[in-house]
Amino acid sequence: MRNYSDVLVIGTGIAGLCAAIESADLGLNVFLITKNNDAGESNTLYAQGGIVGPGEDDSPDLIYQDILKAGCYINNRDAVRLVAEQGPAMMNQFLVDRIKVHFSKDEKGGHELTREAAHSVRRILHSRDKSGFALSRGLLEVAASHERIEICTSMMALDLITNCHHSSDHQEKYKKKKVLGAYVLDIKNRDVISFFAPSVIIATGGVGALYEHTSNPSCATGDGIAMAYRTGAELINSEYIQFHPTTLFHRDSENFLITESLRGEGAILLNRFREPFMNRYNKELKDLAPRDEVSRAIYNEMEETGSDCVYLDARHIENHKLDERFPQIFETCRKLQIDIRTDLIPVVPAAHYFCGGIKTDLDGSTEIEGLYAVGEAACTGLHGANRLASVSLLEGVVFGLRAARHISSGDRRNDAVLLDTIPDWVYPRREECFDSILIDSDMKTIRTIMWNYVGIRRSKKRLERALADLNYLRHRVEKFYKQSYVTREILELRNAVETAVNITKGALSNSKSLGCHYIPDKGESRE
Ligand code: SIN
Repeated sequence: MRNYSDVLVIGTGIAGLCAAIESADLGLNVFLITKNNDAGESNTLYAQGGIVGPGEDDSPDLIYQDILKAGCYINNRDAVRLVAEQGPAMMNQFLVDRIKVHFSKDEKGGHELTREAAHSVRRILHSRDKSGFALSRGLLEVAASHERIEICTSMMALDLITNCHHSSDHQEKYKKKKVLGAYVLDIKNRDVISFFAPSVIIATGGVGALYEHTSNPSCATGDGIAMAYRTGAELINSEYIQFHPTTLFHRDSENFLITESLRGEGAILLNRFREPFMNRYNKELKDLAPRDEVSRAIYNEMEETGSDCVYLDARHIENHKLDERFPQIFETCRKLQIDIRTDLIPVVPAAHYFCGGIKTDLDGSTEIEGLYAVGEAACTGLHGANRLASVSLLEGVVFGLRAARHISSGDRRNDAVLLDTIPDWVYPRREECFDSILIDSDMKTIRTIMWNYVGIRRSKKRLERALADLNYLRHRVEKFYKQSYVTREILELRNAVETAVNITKGALSNSKSLGCHYIPDKGESRE
């Protein structure tokens, strides 16, 4: 089967949805695909904190300085300037005016602003602690009812189609590489469909699921990143994996984030002896120090005190602020017999956000013609070595919209003659050898390697060991992939190991300890 559109968007998080809606508003026909059964499932859905907007006593210059400082000053300054100067207004026009996202209001009817780590002022718009849910639902409603958007669920892109890789016309091999679409697995029917589009936007999110502990849902397996890499796109800043300081530590809970805005509203961290400790690590910002510093401090306290977790103390915050402002955390903890008004909340750091990704310019364009990447899968250099809280949703809006506008201002068209030279996906003769035990155990191995050797604290020795183990695993997985029927699980495993190798190589090739790439014996610096 062959499908044709002006734009193919892969991924239904905030960046993909913004790109799809804006493209459609500009008159382009869009296929929007997701491997998930439910189009709402994405990292965006689980965002709690919120999105950077214009704060009180705020200025683009202040936002610029905060993003740079958190990023250890290695950010792409043009990207930071663009987001600081244009981001809050773009967010307001698109999310508030066009999509009608409901953000929490203060008593005067304005947007209530919260604070998160390393922000100089209160500037974060939120929908209590369900910001991602509000955004995701609002955007999906608009996308689903848009006459120019077709949303296809349970559809997993397997590989990008290019003239050089796939055309039966040998002359195409010698021309500039351009993306023509993607081969997509229809997960339910086990069929591979060709989706052709002159512009393809990768918005597949991040890589948290490659780690044993993560705040991300299990679908965050680095699919778009691996796929772009196989096509020849450049990956940059892969060593910078951000660990969120506080996810819930409980036997019966997995991947549940405890938003930083709880600390923004006054909660503090305690070690196993119930002592506050952040003042020993950052005298000025204490519990609101940049994330990389807080995560390392927690890791250190856990190690030094021989504990599996630390604690968040929110007991001194006014009661109504806890259940009304943080209903999701309140309820989730309550179900686990933790009353956050009277009990401490056990927390551990977990992999949260990929600051690196597919290299793009400020329009989301990669070096491969027709290929765009936006959101967490992409890297404009905005975050440098560590992302400032609540900038990722803003990044999704800014670059999602810019990619759509760039595509619409160009003149890319499906080239019917060229597309005729692209064969349908050819199923090699494959054995039916889906073995979920093998796949699960390989995935667990990747997660253990990444957590222990490519995690919060790194060393050359650990990274070298990780790369050797991952390379061996990659070889085995590739063999397995070639022998078996394609399934979502096998594709995820293949992408996960490819991405893990790339992250580890990135970490090994940078001996400077900075931000989220922490190598203690190399010293530490934020400059
Ligand atoms: C949080 O709510 O703590 C996460 C927000 C973010 O990652 O920007």
